[in-house]
Amino acid sequence: MNRSDILYYPEVDSTNKALREYLHVAQEGFTIVAGRQTAGRGRMGRSFISPAGGLYMSLILKPEKDSFSLITSAAAVAVTQVIEEKYAVKCGIKWVNDIIKDGKKVCGILAEAVFDGSEKPAAVILGIGINLVAPEGGFEKEIKDIATHLGICLTADEKIDLAAEITNRILSLYPRPESFVNEYREKSVVIGKEIFVIRGSEKTYGFAKDIDDECGLIVDYGSKTEVLRTGEISVRLK
Ligand code: BTN
Repeated sequence: MNRSDILYYPEVDSTNKALREYLHVAQEGFTIVAGRQTAGRGRMGRSFISPAGGLYMSLILKPEKDSFSLITSAAAVAVTQVIEEKYAVKCGIKWVNDIIKDGKKVCGILAEAVFDGSEKPAAVILGIGINLVAPEGGFEKEIKDIATHLGICLTADEKIDLAAEITNRILSLYPRPESFVNEYREKSVVIGKEIFVIRGSEKTYGFAKDIDDECGLIVDYGSKTEVLRTGEISVRLK
């Protein structure tokens, strides 16, 4: 995938939504990048605040197997690798796929399946939002205690280059879990920590023991152990 294959919008509602228009013509790896989003979507139906200065990108994957946690985990490793190689900024990963710098979130990842009538998704739209710099006026109050930025100011052209590298890295990693699971585990900021597993309004206390070979989180509740394949946890990172 070349940078010339990337579609750039200075502003869009959501790159994940915009990409749906291209699904029938686009190949795996087709990527949309936006300078800002007016209705960025986050996990669990939340919104993703997407001011100018960030990198907002979505790409199409057409996986053989529809393992979401492996796809988003591959994306998390790909983003951390590229950011470290290009800008020498080291980040960790909070299960499932938040990217963390200095104990705060710098990047969120959202995978959405698109079905065409069969049981297996016809495609997966993978969206990635990276806080490159602090937004003008600072982060909004809902996220200011949990969000930070990489401190990397990029032009639109440089964002397109970065997006192309991230897409290419994801394409090479995601079909081969053995190529990224060890690194996913090494970059985990959760293993060995006390956590809460969040299910709706319920929070269950546990201990994050390890991550298995499919990027599931092994949680010890004292009386029993469970492997989480998807979901949400909270953990104190600082
Ligand atoms: C999360 O942390 O909850 C996931 C956030 C995913 C945000 C990205 S930004 C690009 C793409 N377009 C969207 O509307 N969402 C994703």
